[in-house]
Amino acid sequence: MKILEIEGGNTLSGTVRVSGSKNSAVALIPAAILSDEEVTICNVPEITDTKALYEILKYLGADVTKNSESIVIEPSHIENKEIPARLSKKLRASYYFMGALLGKYGSVKMCFPGGCSIGARPINLHLKGFEALGATIKEEDNCYIVEAKELCGANIYLDFASVGATINIMLAAVKAKGTTVIDNAAKEPEIVNVATLLNNMGAKITGAGTSTIKIRGVSSLKGCFHEVIPDRIEAGTYIIIGACCGDHLKIENIIPEHVESLTSKLQEAGVKLEIGTDSMIVTRADHLKAIQVKTQTYPGFPTDLQQPLSVFLTQCQGKSKIEETIYENRFMHVPYLHQMGADIRTKNQTVTIIGPTQLIADEVVATDLRAGAALIIAGLIARGKTQITSVEHILRGYEQIIEKLTSIGANIKEREI
Ligand code: EPU
Repeated sequence: MKILEIEGGNTLSGTVRVSGSKNSAVALIPAAILSDEEVTICNVPEITDTKALYEILKYLGADVTKNSESIVIEPSHIENKEIPARLSKKLRASYYFMGALLGKYGSVKMCFPGGCSIGARPINLHLKGFEALGATIKEEDNCYIVEAKELCGANIYLDFASVGATINIMLAAVKAKGTTVIDNAAKEPEIVNVATLLNNMGAKITGAGTSTIKIRGVSSLKGCFHEVIPDRIEAGTYIIIGACCGDHLKIENIIPEHVESLTSKLQEAGVKLEIGTDSMIVTRADHLKAIQVKTQTYPGFPTDLQQPLSVFLTQCQGKSKIEETIYENRFMHVPYLHQMGADIRTKNQTVTIIGPTQLIADEVVATDLRAGAALIIAGLIARGKTQITSVEHILRGYEQIIEKLTSIGANIKEREI
């Protein structure tokens, strides 16, 4: 079993470079199979989630070549085979093969996706979208058979602006006959990144990044070159690390607008940020004050950063609150922070954090990806040696996190026990 050991208390400085976005890359990779020709994607992060998608691509018969800067996906030999649970369960984003295979072949058979246990995470809105496009859906033993005689454009209203459903419907609709309109679409930057790839392949998508996306179906898609945007959640994690224990910590390869909901909250708490065009310098401030945060869809405060932020709030003077509105079960890191000495209470979907508190190292578990990130931050500022187990959750989403943290002065090691 792998564990992480962190000796807390170091001040971190130097430069950390943000990788390509996990949540973009995991949609771009399945999207590439819609092309009839080779697709090259650069800046794909080397994380276990992208590796799991390459496995699915290879299982389906695609050629995947990795170069130092990019991956090349050659989809012309793909076979529309059932994707078994052993592959789909490895990650949430395996569900993008549903939209991509349905869009390419008019049918798909695959088992329910995996991913972090942070709530029920149904896929009813994805299925509703496929049905609106003319597909029928059968569910057997947690596997879905989605079939359409012909996919036809439709008007689809999403009850919730779901990232996954918006992308999956775009993938299924891109080659459908006629025009599809998605209303109350998700507006996250990852949606724009996927729409840009599809448009580079010859699709006709407008409105990505707004709540109404229009997709005019095309008959074929061609190869292209595309770049993954910087990971705004990884960027946000390092910005929070800088706010907790940084001294002129420079975070580069960021799009400041993508992390504005975080940076404005940190500034409200008293953090001084030097914001450049594609980088940011963060230093821990002496006097930090409590703030109130509510998670929302983009451009609101991202749910994926509330767990890391909660650790920062243990360092602020007064009573902070975080209300989680996206997932029902995203406070699994709280008992461990409590164990480390934080004054933190959960009531329904809100945590109250009273600070400042000196955290004390302990043995903790990374129950999910962002809980793991939060516990790393806690370990970095705690007194003593923190041990984190279930490290595999963290490696699903943060490229070279140990190397990156070590390079800016953290005392963090991976150990096999
Ligand atoms: N929802 C439904 N029905 C659906 C789809 C979603 O009820 O058909 C609900 C979910 O249960 C959840 C909410 O809507 O309560 C939001 O779900 P959404 O579909 O937007 O999320 P997702 O596509 O499953 C992606 C990211 C998550 C990120 C969310 C929100 C990927 C692979 N995952 O998930 O990332 O939290 O959007 O921004 O893109 C992470 O990176 O740690 C992570 C969990």
